[in-house]
Amino acid sequence: MSAKPASSEVLRNAMVDRLAADHAAKGLTLHPEVEAAMRAVPRELYVPGVPLEEAYENTAVITKRLPSGENVSSVSAPFLIAEMLGQAMGALGGLKGRHVLEIGSGGYNASLLAELVGTAGSVTTVDIDPEVADRVAACLKTAGYHDVTVVCADAEHPIEPGRGYDLIIVTAGAWDIPPAWREQLTEGGVLVVPLRTFGTTRSWALRRVGDRLVSHSHRQCGFVPVQGAGAHQIRCIDLAEGVHLRLDEGEQIDADAVKGVLEQPRREAWAGLSLPPATRLHDLSLWHATRLREHAVVLTAQEEAIASGIVAPSWQHGTSATVHNGTLAYRTLRWTDRRFDLGAYAHGPDAQAAAERMVENMRAWVEAGCPTPALEVLPACTPDGDLPDGTVLDKRHSRLVVSFIPG
Ligand SMILES: C[S@@+](CC[C@H](N)C(=O)[O-])C[C@H]1O[C@@H](n2cnc3c(N)ncnc32)[C@H](O)[C@@H]1O
Repeated sequence: MSAKPASSEVLRNAMVDRLAADHAAKGLTLHPEVEAAMRAVPRELYVPGVPLEEAYENTAVITKRLPSGENVSSVSAPFLIAEMLGQAMGALGGLKGRHVLEIGSGGYNASLLAELVGTAGSVTTVDIDPEVADRVAACLKTAGYHDVTVVCADAEHPIEPGRGYDLIIVTAGAWDIPPAWREQLTEGGVLVVPLRTFGTTRSWALRRVGDRLVSHSHRQCGFVPVQGAGAHQIRCIDLAEGVHLRLDEGEQIDADAVKGVLEQPRREAWAGLSLPPATRLHDLSLWHATRLREHAVVLTAQEEAIASGIVAPSWQHGTSATVHNGTLAYRTLRWTDRRFDLGAYAHGPDAQAAAERMVENMRAWVEAGCPTPALEVLPACTPDGDLPDGTVLDKRHSRLVVSFIPG
């Protein structure tokens, strides 16, 4: 006799149990109200046609892919949704009765938000893609969330002019913060946004203080990119089959100078550290990028390239690297007894010195107590003299200032 398939409720509760464990492993707590909402909302209603088991996997479900293969819309991964809602709850001290704008629609997150704000609050969700907006409106109706307002528009611009929100939660990868996002927030309101800074994306919870946005928390994340007026270009330079340097808009390196660099002998340097697995290397990546500024890039590698031994980055999806005068250096690591040491591999005319410089930078981060980054976002017109201390990154609409909170 074949076993009875698990019901939606059983699968949903099992997924939330896994999320709670996943949070604990990262040193986080799944917020009890977020947990209750996730135990209540049937995710399968937002991914029609997807098998029930898949709807409760802890991964994004791609709902729109371009002919080029690029993913442009999805129902986000539950762990990421839970972490971002937790950031919003933490920064606002709860969401009951709050007014929320979600940028980027999938239906699932909007219905969780509807559960969290209750009948005294409101949720508006906006998507640039009419196909997505129509699908989401239909799914929300089927699921019984009749009070969620679905708008089709480019969220670069104000959505309901004159209206203020306590929370704006962006669920697409942003390169910049357009003025409309700050201006639509109430004073003290919170923007949760996956924002690209120095080659990597993290979800920042930013509180509005006058014309500034000041960080409250951040998490590592990845998202489909913002489209429309706020779209940005990412350029990849091939170093070898399956190995690339990823450059953000505005970043320049001489591609010819690094052609064939991986074929040159590899030099290495090690920091001589013994770090626990929970060490937040994505904080180190930002430290690295702000300290080695003009030479900093990000290296990515496919599994086959790593298996073949061409490169050994510390994280295949985005590892700190430097390129200077035709020399490439990147971060690596090695494990001993469940602890790890940080190192750098380098190729090119100045390889040994480049590897040692990079390792010196990593040691400085550890000696400073593994500090975590903080971010302030100011309008693009802010004069230098009015900026807080930190490393400045200028974007089209804003000036970002990254500093580090001693560990
Ligand atoms: C990851 S999906 C949203 C996931 C969703 N919040 C959920 O419930 O899981 C990102 C969405 O952002 C939308 N998007 C991208 N750029 C946008 C823009 N400028 N304005 C509004 N929506 C945008 C895309 O069309 C896509 O549907």
